Amino acid sequence: MLPDKAPERRLVLKDRVTSTNDLAKALAKEGCPDWTVVAANHQTAGRGRMGRTWVSDRGNALQFSVVLRPKAEPSAVPSVTLTGAAAVALALEDLGFRPAIKWPNDVLLSGKKLCGILTEMVSGGKSAPFVVMGIGLNVGNRGFPGELKASATSLLMERPDETPPDRTDLAKSILNRLEPLYMAFCRGDLSPALRVCRRLSWLKGKPVIFERDGKVMNAVAGDPDGLGRLEVFLPDGTRETLLSGEVHLGLNLRD
Ligand code: BTN
Repeated sequence: MLPDKAPERRLVLKDRVTSTNDLAKALAKEGCPDWTVVAANHQTAGRGRMGRTWVSDRGNALQFSVVLRPKAEPSAVPSVTLTGAAAVALALEDLGFRPAIKWPNDVLLSGKKLCGILTEMVSGGKSAPFVVMGIGLNVGNRGFPGELKASATSLLMERPDETPPDRTDLAKSILNRLEPLYMAFCRGDLSPALRVCRRLSWLKGKPVIFERDGKVMNAVAGDPDGLGRLEVFLPDGTRETLLSGEVHLGLNLRD
């Protein structure tokens, strides 16, 4: 039932694609095996969460997508993103960086976004259900335009005096870190990924705002719970859990 031995990876490498997630989805619909990895040097229509555009600086960004076919309850599948975030963070720690994970899908360095993860679940149609986990990580960018300037970083910007890691090696390290976390997830055990996400949590203790039933709510972030949902504490002391969706940093009402 479950992949007990290390999965075999199949690599599809392209110079240019619209989006590695799109190509991975198309291959998955045609029946490609689990752990098919689609990587590209450049994306012309990279996608982020919430319908945003993901801009990839040609030759400077690592972007790849993995086709996964977890035999998990559909309701548990969104938390697979945490295995990706934890894998990226561990691979960065292996290189001596000090990453933080902004639940559920961002990895930060120095408080700025280095990496985003877009997990898409496809359950209908003729093909078996699958997940495409797309990872975008800024490697050799020297700077960012416009509003990204204040909020984004790259490995080169964090260590300007060093040659940034080779993108292929970095992708391999992330996949090596992902395998055991994902295999545990497939056994219904999210705890290895959760341990990493809690240890490196960027949101914990910070004021956050989120939307519930069309209302903007203020709260303080806690840890992800056992199912990977974010615990938040409202001013009246009640606890809520957020499935995914957008959490923004809020105002610190005590300052
Ligand atoms: C986000 O932070 O909003 C998620 C960004 C995910 C970007 C990656 S790059 C590889 C894959 N292909 C895409 O089009 N998006 C993901």
